[in-house]
Amino acid sequence: MRAHILGSGAGGGVPQWNCACDNCVLARAGDGRVAPRTQDSIAVASRPDSWLLVNASPDVLRQIERFPPLWPRGGRHTPLSAVALTNGDLDHVLGLLSLRESQPLRLLATPRVRAGLIEHNAMMRTLARTPDQLAWTELRLGREVALDDVGLGVTALPVAGKLPVHLAGLLEPSPEDNVALRVRELATGRTLAVVTAVGALDGVEPIVTAADVVLFDGTFWSDDELPSQGLGRARARDMAHVPVGGDAGSLARVGARGARRRVYTHVNNTNPMLRQGSPERAAVERAGWEVAFDGMELFE
Ligand code: MLT
Ligand code: MN
Ligand code: ZN
Repeated sequence: MRAHILGSGAGGGVPQWNCACDNCVLARAGDGRVAPRTQDSIAVASRPDSWLLVNASPDVLRQIERFPPLWPRGGRHTPLSAVALTNGDLDHVLGLLSLRESQPLRLLATPRVRAGLIEHNAMMRTLARTPDQLAWTELRLGREVALDDVGLGVTALPVAGKLPVHLAGLLEPSPEDNVALRVRELATGRTLAVVTAVGALDGVEPIVTAADVVLFDGTFWSDDELPSQGLGRARARDMAHVPVGGDAGSLARVGARGARRRVYTHVNNTNPMLRQGSPERAAVERAGWEVAFDGMELFE
């Protein structure tokens, strides 16, 4: 099994186009302490010629070009067999519209995430130019979808989250709005848990404890990260991201016993743990966690 971090940043990436926080300034300056990061996406495979993409970020084209296993092998071809979505946030779905060159793709999403994408959204019709272009597969909570051609099984598990910003107020929230994905290699049973948007920690421990490798919500270090840096009023919890640090944070609360590797990803550019040498990074590493970077391999 191979899992490759294509993008380890939260929405906006690192540096973010309209941000001059300490990390963005260092990343722009080429300072080695803060590596640039594209937006949240992971490529998973059980065999070299057939890949599952977990989330399609706005950076997907650049991410494909930077990772030769995802290059086409013939005139019109892609080794990308399926795309699975953890939620409908724009940093996870906008890349779908960049994959519109009439290429057949299989898309796995909960019925709610699917509805949020295609209802009232004329642009999605560009992915239905031909009847067989997009094949939707419903992710029902707790029920594994086996992708036999990819050699992977995908299970959606409910995790507290939120509706995408553009749907808030239009729809009643549902447990299908935001899910963790358990990706299981069918041949070996090895599992990757992708839990990159976590609004509350209830029910999360069993998901991470059962996985061989865990990718976890590393968006913010502290609840007041943005206000304290003068970058707006939104608090981490308002955005349905449990902070990493603090007594109630995931580092203190999520044991992830059993997991061989525990990795924070979807890291916002303001998060001090991005910076090598920071006390926050040291605390993460002391606790046996890692901070994802673009290009990281998870099963080696
Ligand atoms: C999030 O991770 O909370 C979202 O990507 C925020 C957004 O949609 O801008
Ligand atoms: Mn996001
Ligand atoms: Zn920034």
